[in-house]
Amino acid sequence: MACRELREQNRLSWNAVVGAHESHRGDQGRYFREGGSTLFPEELSLLGDLEGKTVAHLLCNAGQDSLSLAALGAKVTGVDISDGAISRARSLAAEAGISARFERSDIYDWLEKTARERRRFEVAFSSYGVVCWLSDLDAWAGGIADILEPGGRFVLVDFHPTADMFDENWGHTRSYPSGGKRLPLEEGVGDYVGTSRGGLTPAGFAEGVKNFENPQGCFLFQWGLGEVVSALAGAGLRISALREYLYSNGERHFAGMSELAGRRMAPPEDVPDVPLMYGIRAEKV
Ligand SMILES: C[S@@+](CC[C@H](N)C(=O)[O-])C[C@H]1O[C@@H](n2cnc3c(N)ncnc32)[C@H](O)[C@@H]1O
Repeated sequence: MACRELREQNRLSWNAVVGAHESHRGDQGRYFREGGSTLFPEELSLLGDLEGKTVAHLLCNAGQDSLSLAALGAKVTGVDISDGAISRARSLAAEAGISARFERSDIYDWLEKTARERRRFEVAFSSYGVVCWLSDLDAWAGGIADILEPGGRFVLVDFHPTADMFDENWGHTRSYPSGGKRLPLEEGVGDYVGTSRGGLTPAGFAEGVKNFENPQGCFLFQWGLGEVVSALAGAGLRISALREYLYSNGERHFAGMSELAGRRMAPPEDVPDVPLMYGIRAEKV
């Protein structure tokens, strides 16, 4: 299958899971109306001041982080391939009383169209489950460089590729991701919001959908950290921060994870430290 078809299949898989994810998230409208935020300190510290800034939130899912960015004074445009996620993002914005714009598109089409139309942003941001959906890192990085204003910055916080080498019981069973190798997942996107039992639901955890099974498979693309950094640098962006974290925000990927303050999940004591997330800030000079 061509990459575009794989990404289309991913759209179907994401569409199928949105309802299950949202079923666990509690009263989000109220959470936002009362000043709640879904952003973690790691991305906030890389993003810096957002007051009045134009922000492109790429792969925004159902818009919780987009609305949190908007609540900080940013003028946010959220982009995602999933019809269900974008439709939920729009309804959530109305419930929350927070203004943000949401556009449904494959990220590659959106970056190309936005550059062609000469729309520019001061900040681009993406987080938590991003790089594994990208079929072409150079086109992604080049597209981001094209839509940034001079002096603008891109911030990415994502799960560390090293974490992909372990099975859920911390067994070292897989090779380090590299080369964008395709990984078909017949079981599709899972209900990780449900299995994280509160880690991803700051508005409160609801039991919601049980035993979700996704009828739509998906395809991941495997990239190493060096490849991500090289793609951004190769697009002319200046890397001003690359941070690695020995815990993972929100999601419980592995057995026995203990919850630290602020919904951070850490390995059990008998597992040696391993980076579970990384953050990058890259600037258009
Ligand atoms: C794990 S979620 C990202 C989490 C998100 N940051 C949040 O705040 O919930 C990954 C998102 O990427 C989107 N996605 C996957 N492939 C895409 C593509 N080719 N273009 C645009 N969005 C895509 C999915 O629809 C999904 O919403």
